[in-house]
Amino acid sequence: MINIAVDGFSGSGKGELCRGLSEKLNLKHLDTGAILRAMGLYFYKLGFTEISEELVEEHLNNLNITVDFEGDKQITKLNDEDVSLEIRQEIIGQMASRVAVRQKAMMKLIEISREFAEKYDCILDGRNITSEVLPDADVKFFLTASLDCRAKRRHDFAISKGFESNLQEVKESLAERDDRDIHRDFSPMIQTEDSILVDNTNMTIQETIDYCYDLTIQKLSTLGKLKS
Ligand code: DC
Repeated sequence: MINIAVDGFSGSGKGELCRGLSEKLNLKHLDTGAILRAMGLYFYKLGFTEISEELVEEHLNNLNITVDFEGDKQITKLNDEDVSLEIRQEIIGQMASRVAVRQKAMMKLIEISREFAEKYDCILDGRNITSEVLPDADVKFFLTASLDCRAKRRHDFAISKGFESNLQEVKESLAERDDRDIHRDFSPMIQTEDSILVDNTNMTIQETIDYCYDLTIQKLSTLGKLKS
């Protein structure tokens, strides 16, 4: 079994890297943030903006989140409805990071993600994959880029999908989310000692993929896990 773990800041290009590596290495890619985003969307639709541990506990049984695949594309469903596009809005990213501080929600994410990783040769991305979800992953990356660069990427993405976006607001929202993800009590984002740090502020997506691909091949080959 091959397990690759990718963590990093919002907008650091984790998704693109995982898509690139999963194609080249024939792995399934699970975007674990989508699970929290689906939970965030659920609470957002009910009109909640503050998420308490009690609220999560009360609603957890009504929250059926599943992840399917259409080819390589992850389809995230909330109570049988495909929410894959809706959850990409920045406001839902904000909701997701508020949900992420709640232990019960995070334990659900960990459970779904580990079950996935036991079934497939895969690459997972999130905030606590290298540290908590897959501490024994074969290869671990920690991605970062400057805040300005990450905000611009998220802003351009939102515009391309037809969502409203304001660059300054995106920047503030990302900074707030980063802070919450790093400082939460349960399963915060950390850069583990055995993760390879990749700052791609001045790298293209393709350069990031190629760089990480070479390192992955080296590591898998050392472990005798390279498929012929
Ligand atoms: O990667 P993303 O922007 O889709 O993640 C949305 C939020 O969910 C983000 O603020 C951090 C949180 N998250 C997390 O805490 N742990 C994960 N494994 C994945 C996402």
